[in-house]
Amino acid sequence: MTGKVCVVGSFNLDVVARVSRFPAPGESLIATGSSFGAGGKGANQALAAACAGAEVHFVTKLGTDTYSDFARRHLQASPIHSLSLLQSADQPTGNAVIYVAESTGENTVAVFPGANNTLTREEIDALLPVLNSADILLLQLENNLDALLHAIMLAKQAGLTVVLNPAPYSPAISEWLPKVDILTPNQSEASQLAGVTITDTDSAAAAARKIAALGVPQVIITLGAQGAVLYDGEQVQILPAFTAQVVDTTGAGDAFNGALVAALARGETLSRAATFAAAYASLAVERMGAASMPDYNEALQRLTESE
Ligand code: ATP
Ligand code: RIB
Repeated sequence: MTGKVCVVGSFNLDVVARVSRFPAPGESLIATGSSFGAGGKGANQALAAACAGAEVHFVTKLGTDTYSDFARRHLQASPIHSLSLLQSADQPTGNAVIYVAESTGENTVAVFPGANNTLTREEIDALLPVLNSADILLLQLENNLDALLHAIMLAKQAGLTVVLNPAPYSPAISEWLPKVDILTPNQSEASQLAGVTITDTDSAAAAARKIAALGVPQVIITLGAQGAVLYDGEQVQILPAFTAQVVDTTGAGDAFNGALVAALARGETLSRAATFAAAYASLAVERMGAASMPDYNEALQRLTESE
């Protein structure tokens, strides 16, 4: 492991409304706060991996609109080491409309992928030199699936570890699982993949075994404030969440995934990497905004304080 991670994924402009509670269907509410910011699971995870200490190459596709200028400025000013910023001539930069409930910090999200859905096989082929020098490929599901599957195939041929965060859920990925090394669904994605309702760590452990039986060797199911369950093909490990003063849980999974691959890329075991990721994500939920990522030292401090 050389600490190098390639992330192929989305950039979205996040339009966030803070609300006292989620509006009911047909209801309008006065929001208590509002912001525009950088988001997208790909961009958030690439940022988290870089802040958590990895050397990251991030591949994403933008439109030609003013939001693409915003995206460029955000990504170029970030600690992400290098970028492939592709551009769609006819689709807008992706966006997400997000409600954050003040009482709980929970969120609801509607994503319009736009340019994120126009990745081509040729654009993925051009990444071969990047893949050849990386240890880990990290992907999510906010891009067109054919391009993502092509990236997975190339990465496997190049000998990388493939980590897939299957968010948002798509049933198509069941067939991909034998090509993935580590799958990181959240509670609802894992429930849909396994065909069981996950309510706690016991049901998550059963679901993790079922998902592994579909062909993926290692599974980590994240369970929000209930922590995470790791199945390494032999044993189940429960990873409790670190205590946090929750402000906004948007991007908790992104923080977890970015920190996980950063720790794996520096050679930590899956168990240690997942524990580091849980510490890192507990800091991310204490901040507003999906792209507000803590740095490595903060996570290390939270980790050591708990030991
Ligand atoms: P989101 O879709 O909101 O970005 P997610 O559903 O993908 O997140 P979660 O399972 O909610 O991901 O959270 C990922 C990890 O973040 C959890 O496994 C846990 O370690 C940490 N985490 C999430 N919520 C909390 C919390 N309230 N307190 C402490 N840690 C948390
Ligand atoms: O995981 C959080 C992200 O999901 C947000 O930034 C939003 O863009 C959606 O993609």
